[in-house]
Amino acid sequence: MNNFQYFAPTKVVFGKGTENEAGSLVREQGGTKVLVHFGSGSAVKSGLVDRVCRSLEEAGIAYVTLGGVKPNPRLSLAREGIELCRKEGVDFLLAIGGGSVIDSAKCIGYGLANDGDVWDFYSKKRQAKACIPVGAILTIAAAGSEMSDSSVITNEEGWIKRGYSSDYCRCKFAVMNPELTYTLPDYQTASGCVDILMHTLERYFSPTEDSMLVDGIAEAMMKTVIHYAKVLAENPTDYNARAQIMWAGSLSHNGLTGCGLVRDFASHQLEHELSAMFDVAHGAGLAAVWGSWARYVYMEKPQRFAQYAANVLGLQVDYSHPERTALEAIKETESFFQSIHMPTSIHEMGIDLTEEQIQELARKCSDNDGRTIGGFKVLNREDMVQIYRMAK
Ligand code: NZQ
Ligand code: ZN
Repeated sequence: MNNFQYFAPTKVVFGKGTENEAGSLVREQGGTKVLVHFGSGSAVKSGLVDRVCRSLEEAGIAYVTLGGVKPNPRLSLAREGIELCRKEGVDFLLAIGGGSVIDSAKCIGYGLANDGDVWDFYSKKRQAKACIPVGAILTIAAAGSEMSDSSVITNEEGWIKRGYSSDYCRCKFAVMNPELTYTLPDYQTASGCVDILMHTLERYFSPTEDSMLVDGIAEAMMKTVIHYAKVLAENPTDYNARAQIMWAGSLSHNGLTGCGLVRDFASHQLEHELSAMFDVAHGAGLAAVWGSWARYVYMEKPQRFAQYAANVLGLQVDYSHPERTALEAIKETESFFQSIHMPTSIHEMGIDLTEEQIQELARKCSDNDGRTIGGFKVLNREDMVQIYRMAK
């Protein structure tokens, strides 16, 4: 087991009606003036924004609002938020939504707490020294941003999507009422489930050996997600299924399943370029590229895929030919994606990549040959080209 740090400071308030505690939770954190930040309509339409504002009023906390966060959140709106918060003297950011809204709030938090251009952090020019406190009221189980150390922002200048990670931005609290996710379109529910599965898979496919404890946690998490994703495809208002998926979403990306491991995250990096260029849903993009990534790398350690096949998918392992089991496991995972109506190629998202676009995706993903991606197998720009071609 490698050395590691595990820091999960977010207070989780889970269950029915918990959004009504927003006011007292902000007060507990010492917030006096709040930015209520939300997306493009769903949280207004459902009445959630009104309920949360009422809770703030009841707690005697002043607030301003800023809606309009788009999926794959944009830098320009975050900049607008920074200006607004400076003008209004905001000292607490309350995100009502999913990964996009929470990440936009985190970006605003960095911009408020540090001098200079906030994009510098995402373009890795310098490190943030602080972040204004953020709280989340989660409306979609997916990105795990409610407990993660990261935020992912798209800069419209050049359509570059980049993540920035630091413990400063971890949410002070996360309100998780599974009922708030009932209104999700099926496609978003399924896309969220893929993202959750992938946050664990991208840690599980690690070059680190002898990781029995975290493997066991990861395997239970993946079995849970696969099982309940299928339940939700049939019955979107199954409370227990929504609850299991929601909690798995937070645990999959708060670092728990990566303790002591070298992480992979290559599929995430490949996908971020796709969602930056074509604005696809992040989880759907992951489903579209994962099988190709897996077929490209499985010979590095076919036994790891065989372990996944046996312990997560319940397949028989061919011990004399683990590579055969590995290929079966990849196929079975893709069948799962298909069963919840997720794509297993980029074409299935309505995009027919040209060779020029493939080269452009790989150029961006490799930062013009400035970085490699992946831990299970380290991938350079040419590897990225090959995987995009396979996933086409
Ligand atoms: O904007 P509204 O109208 O709310 O619609 C949203 C949006 O269209 C809708 N939605 C959310 N809750 C709903 C709802 N519709 C009806 N009822 C509800 N209860 O769902 C759509 C997707 O929302 P979004 O926030 O974009 O989803 P998600 O949580 O999947 O976030 C995706 C973003 O997070 C990033 C992704 O790259 C992407 O930009 N990620 C962030 C991570 C992190 N910060 O740790 C890690 C992830 O790997 C990921 O990269
Ligand atoms: Zn993700």
